[in-house]
Amino acid sequence: MNMTANLPKIELHLHLEGAAPPAFIRGLAKEKAMDLSGIFDERGHYAYRDFWHFLKVYEAATETLKSPEDYHRLTLAVLEESAASGVVYSETFLSPDFCGGRDVEAWKDYLAAIREAADLAEKRDGITLRGIITAIRHFGPEKARETALCAAETAGDWIVGFGLAGDEKMGKPKDFAWSFDAAREAGLRLTAHAGEWGGPDSVRDAIRDLGVERIGHGVRAIEDLALVDEIAEKGVVLEVCPGSNVALGIYRTWRDHPIHRLRERGVKVTVSTDDPPFFHTTMKNEYDRLADAFDWDEGVFDAIARTSIDAAFCDGDTRDRIVKKLEAARA
Ligand code: HPA
Ligand code: ZN
Repeated sequence: MNMTANLPKIELHLHLEGAAPPAFIRGLAKEKAMDLSGIFDERGHYAYRDFWHFLKVYEAATETLKSPEDYHRLTLAVLEESAASGVVYSETFLSPDFCGGRDVEAWKDYLAAIREAADLAEKRDGITLRGIITAIRHFGPEKARETALCAAETAGDWIVGFGLAGDEKMGKPKDFAWSFDAAREAGLRLTAHAGEWGGPDSVRDAIRDLGVERIGHGVRAIEDLALVDEIAEKGVVLEVCPGSNVALGIYRTWRDHPIHRLRERGVKVTVSTDDPPFFHTTMKNEYDRLADAFDWDEGVFDAIARTSIDAAFCDGDTRDRIVKKLEAARA
């Protein structure tokens, strides 16, 4: 058992379908007599050539998830993996696009099934889950509005945020401003993917045009130090997914990843897996690789866990409960 295994971890950036173990998806495909062999390699891992192909493979895998019951099973499988890595609190991205085709009543059934599974996992594994509804950028602004309406209808103590995922090169953040305004008015907290495939301007645009308090990835802000300083000063939190960035070739090695430099310059960084089986990672692996690459010790990871729970979108009572867990582990 090494140093990182016992550290309680907080994950803020996890796509639920993207966290599906490949064997789980193969099992569903078999039950439904669907042929998905093209999306796996000879070892049974998800196979994709680049980010855009990854999005296609992701959507193909998601085709097997057709009912609230399927999402119930998925949620249990995903949380079992997260808990095994020491995750005590997680926020997951959920898309009404995949859960009922953005129909509000259908979406409510999916959400009820996901929440029921999350309650079971909390009792079983001691892990707490909350949901962030994401619009999918390459599906366009019109569909995003419908997604925002689903989000507004189900906003509360469990659906706590609204975000934007998908192909960062499609459209501009401001195309989605209406949806973000609607989500904000419904009381949801806001995050958007930027600065992964887009450069520093994409991060600037998301902060200015969508009013987000967190950025998914955001790492390419490092290419503009004035922006880094602005992010640090405003307290915008980055949901950094180093293993995802290395797997997709944004950085060649872990040591090339800017997370350490961003942190040193005062940016609030957090650590997540994004789509763990796609990127051959887990939260424990992220911690181990960061410890190796940057000589990070328990003190750094403890500070990151504190930053993460402070940046979580959950209510204060939930936060206090998780903070107590962090404190108990430290004692
Ligand atoms: N990035 C952007 N969009 C996504 C991802 C991701 O990692 N996973 C699912 N949709
Ligand atoms: Zn992501």
